[in-house]
Amino acid sequence: MDKVVLITGASTGIGKETAKLFQSKNWKVAATMRSPENAEDLKKIVDLRLFRLDVTEPDSIRTAIADTLEHFGRIDAVVNNAGYGLIGPFEAASEEQIRRQFETNVFGLMAVTREVIPILRSQKRGVIVNVSSVSGIAALPFSSLYAASKFAVEGFSESLAYELEPFGIRVKLIEPGPIKTDFYSRSEEIAKSESLHVYDERFEKFLEFANKGGEDAPDGSLVAEAVWNAVTDGTKRLRYGVNTKGLLTLRRILPESFFRGLAKKIFLR
Ligand SMILES: NC(=O)c1ccc[n+]([C@@H]2O[C@H](COP(=O)([O-])OP(=O)(O)OC[C@H]3O[C@@H](n4cnc5c(N)ncnc54)[C@H](OP(=O)(O)O)[C@@H]3O)[C@@H](O)[C@H]2O)c1
Repeated sequence: MDKVVLITGASTGIGKETAKLFQSKNWKVAATMRSPENAEDLKKIVDLRLFRLDVTEPDSIRTAIADTLEHFGRIDAVVNNAGYGLIGPFEAASEEQIRRQFETNVFGLMAVTREVIPILRSQKRGVIVNVSSVSGIAALPFSSLYAASKFAVEGFSESLAYELEPFGIRVKLIEPGPIKTDFYSRSEEIAKSESLHVYDERFEKFLEFANKGGEDAPDGSLVAEAVWNAVTDGTKRLRYGVNTKGLLTLRRILPESFFRGLAKKIFLR
């Protein structure tokens, strides 16, 4: 039987690479995005259908899932990939920016998950892959809100994995380090305040370092491979790091004060 994957945020980067990889492995792909009308190249791919889905709009989630079921008849895996990074000093972020970061990265991911659980449960099988980040395990400077959103995704997924396992549903976390995508350009939102300059020097250094890391990084296809493994390896493994630069291992094995000293040296030099 043909397998079906639904992916959020499939317009660019990791989501798009994941859509292409699954299609190349003979899966049927529901590539969802906010503006499918712009995805000319994906439109031409067989067994890949575009559906409009904005994770902050519950109606669009329900409609995209219903359309996927109508078109492909089932959903075997869901990849919660849509997200972006709000960075900068916490003090400079507006209430609206803070809420939007969580509406997208956390509540949007939960809303999609909530809609698909009954479907996967009735099939007695399925995989939910949540795209987190190294920042979901080790919070870097000037990333308090992005890290908070990904820490939330980590806690949510870790708990949910226990809860859904008896129903044959596996929950997986993908934890990428820097990956060259639009994350470092149009998906990078900077918290700024015209009257606040005390952080400028340190933040600019961090931003330069982070964006350079993104520029020199591998592309989204490396993460797509990890998503593929997570969906198909048949294990109960929860976490899959990708290009983590050793950060996750160091975070695990080093005493916290030592790790934090090292992080300061690396990210705020
Ligand atoms: N690149 C990295 O270094 C890196 C590292 C760790 C984790 N990640 C995570 O990887 C995921 C994908 O990011 P990426 O690197 O592939 O960046 P990207 O190329 O900018 O892709 C982000 C995707 O999220 C979509 N999106 C944003 N808000 C949305 C919403 N409200 N509803 C639906 N889709 C929405 C964007 O859609 P539009 O085209 O409509 O804007 C775009 O398709 C994110 O969750 C990010 O946090 C990335």
